[in-house]
Amino acid sequence: KVSLRSPVPQDLEKRNSASELPTDPAGTPDRRASLQEDAEKDAPATEPLGKGEGLVWEEEEGRATLILTFTLRNAKKAGLSKTAKVFETFEAGIHHFETRQAKKSKNTTDDLEFFVKCEVHNSDVSVLINSLKKVAEDVKTIREERVPWFPKKIRDLDKCHHLIAKYEPDLDHDHPVSLSSSLTRTQIRDPLPRVEYTVQETATWREVYRKLSSLYPTHACKQYLDAFQQLEKCCGYQEDSIPQLQDISRFLKERTGFQLRPVAGLLSPRDFLASLAFRVFQSTQYIRHSSSPMHSPEPDCCHELLGHVPMLADKEFAQFSQAIGLASLGSSDVEIEKLATLYWFTIEFGLCKQNGSIKAYGAGLLSSYGELVYALSNKPEHKPFDPELTAVHPYQDQIFQPVYFVAENFEDATAKLQKYALKIKKPFSLHYDPFTCSIEVLNTLQKIKNTLSQMKEELKNLCCALENIS
Ligand SMILES: [Fe+2]
Repeated sequence: KVSLRSPVPQDLEKRNSASELPTDPAGTPDRRASLQEDAEKDAPATEPLGKGEGLVWEEEEGRATLILTFTLRNAKKAGLSKTAKVFETFEAGIHHFETRQAKKSKNTTDDLEFFVKCEVHNSDVSVLINSLKKVAEDVKTIREERVPWFPKKIRDLDKCHHLIAKYEPDLDHDHPVSLSSSLTRTQIRDPLPRVEYTVQETATWREVYRKLSSLYPTHACKQYLDAFQQLEKCCGYQEDSIPQLQDISRFLKERTGFQLRPVAGLLSPRDFLASLAFRVFQSTQYIRHSSSPMHSPEPDCCHELLGHVPMLADKEFAQFSQAIGLASLGSSDVEIEKLATLYWFTIEFGLCKQNGSIKAYGAGLLSSYGELVYALSNKPEHKPFDPELTAVHPYQDQIFQPVYFVAENFEDATAKLQKYALKIKKPFSLHYDPFTCSIEVLNTLQKIKNTLSQMKEELKNLCCALENIS
């Protein structure tokens, strides 16, 4: 059921043509075009690089970071300036440049080995390396796994809108016209669009709300019940009107930093999980058909507002949700599928222990009367939550789950998930900066030092707070 898009954004593919090469500000477009031609001509002789070879880090806007080593014989001569010219021509941003005497040097100390870390446009990678091979020897790149693009700033989520299924009421004559039918893209809008629901839509909401809320006191976890009460008090949660995303988003932002973003249908797992890394929850606004108020084949606002929203107001659950999102960034398709399965068995269909009994916290359960009753009965199997096993467990999206996973509590579940996430192989570590709501790639010592110094300040503050209360 997991459909994944290509990790290569289409705009990168488009730029990969000579006709769109940007001109060199130094006024050498001819030289650049000539290098491009030469590289293509000589490609067979110089072992053309596969697409992405040597690419260790794909930055935003199609920039790639390369790690190169090469040797220059008799560096005092023209070789050095020619080499510099290659980097200059392709507007390579040099991050690190180091030399040492060549190990295999025969008679002279003028033979140098170079280590260069540089940033260059993705479409120039092969040409730059082939050009370098003409002026230097032993040109090598470090061959590592290509890293799928992922958003690093909250506004990058505008590029994460790949729908698996789009709700199209105009094409579906069994459904009433939805007021959200004009929504074709997902974008953070400020303010979020308000929707005027019809009398019939409100009647459907009333029926769902009444029936489910009668079950919550005995079946929902404490965190859900606490938040639900708050939502009734502050956000217009009541059976006679459908709450607006704008009000709910403001409510969540104050409590856990989560915000809602309208979405036109079911997103790809990669895009959906990525938004969680920024504490953004993609929410539909349309409502299920009135003829089947207790069932919706796709997520609708009953599912989002009654299932997901109350739990997103809990700090520990918010942390757990963000941890899945962060783990997904830059992960391979195989890992995304596992994380999507983890998401399914926790955020959608999770159970947890509470005061000696089992309660529901999964949105798929809390928005489905029938499955909520069934999940807490003795009919299905209850297994302890263990990310390694849960991530590969087969799941059902057509019938009730035969197996549910039970967390000890959210703190324990988050710790287990973070331990699992550390095992996902990636050539980098990430840090979420809550001040800028952005992801920082910890790929230099300085970045790690900066993050550490922020943490030290926070620890000092906490130590001080402990002293004050002891
Ligand atoms: Fe959901």
